[in-house]
Amino acid sequence: MNRPYVVLNAAMSLDGKIATRLGDSEFSSPEDWERVHRLRCQVDAIMIGVNTVLVDDPKLTVRSGGKPLKIVVDSLARTPPTARIITYRGESRVMVAVGGEAPAYRVEALKKAGAEVFRAGRKRKVNLKILMGELHRRGIRRLLVEGGGNLNWSLLKEGLVDEVQVAITPVLVGGKEAVSLVEGEGFGKVSEAQRLKLLSVGKAGFNILLKFKCMPREGKP
Ligand SMILES: NC(=O)c1ccc[n+]([C@@H]2O[C@H](COP(=O)([O-])OP(=O)(O)OC[C@H]3O[C@@H](n4cnc5c(N)ncnc54)[C@H](OP(=O)(O)O)[C@@H]3O)[C@@H](O)[C@H]2O)c1
Repeated sequence: MNRPYVVLNAAMSLDGKIATRLGDSEFSSPEDWERVHRLRCQVDAIMIGVNTVLVDDPKLTVRSGGKPLKIVVDSLARTPPTARIITYRGESRVMVAVGGEAPAYRVEALKKAGAEVFRAGRKRKVNLKILMGELHRRGIRRLLVEGGGNLNWSLLKEGLVDEVQVAITPVLVGGKEAVSLVEGEGFGKVSEAQRLKLLSVGKAGFNILLKFKCMPREGKP
């Protein structure tokens, strides 16, 4: 299947949380933000899950040069038309990828606000393989995924991630309600898990930067 090269990026605590139980996700140092901004300029598109829009309302600013397509994975078109990813889109286009049951009135409201709505499959949930195929068809060759944990899980489960970059912050936050780097049902056995090959270790301010390549996975979740 033709699809973009997918880089999954996140900033997390040492215990693997990408947000605290209250939804605070400020784990990056100023130096790490610089790295994230460089990454955003090097890709054709940036993708996030709808919960990240609802909790963080990110702008996904791209500072210099690039104007990547910004994509929200949002089965039921719950992205508010006033979300900053839409209203602060600058020169970027915004796509909301929805499933087969997204209500027409919400779809229309998003289109009116300037977003493109792409229906990825007929089922309730966004079909990520269909979405990836469509992105490739449109010339998107490098895609940056910026979470959250549930989107990360679905992409990993379907073998759609090529590289993982994490900025580890030396804090421990705990909390069973706090979102982890990878949520969802999880792999049942270590032998079935997504294996990674370490590419590099670095530092950005107080963050430890780890880059991994994803190894082919044969086991089922
Ligand atoms: N530290 C970091 O780097 C970082 C980065 C990003 C986010 N975060 C944090 O992560 C938290 C949000 O993470 P989250 O796991 O709750 O949400 P998420 O991954 O942002 O969004 C998940 C939602 O996406 C929708 N979706 C549609 N199709 C899907 C599919 N095929 N697979 C998976 N999801 C699909 C689902 O809602 P529907 O069923 O309604 O479609 C699902 O509940 C926030 O607290 C945010 O601050 C941290």
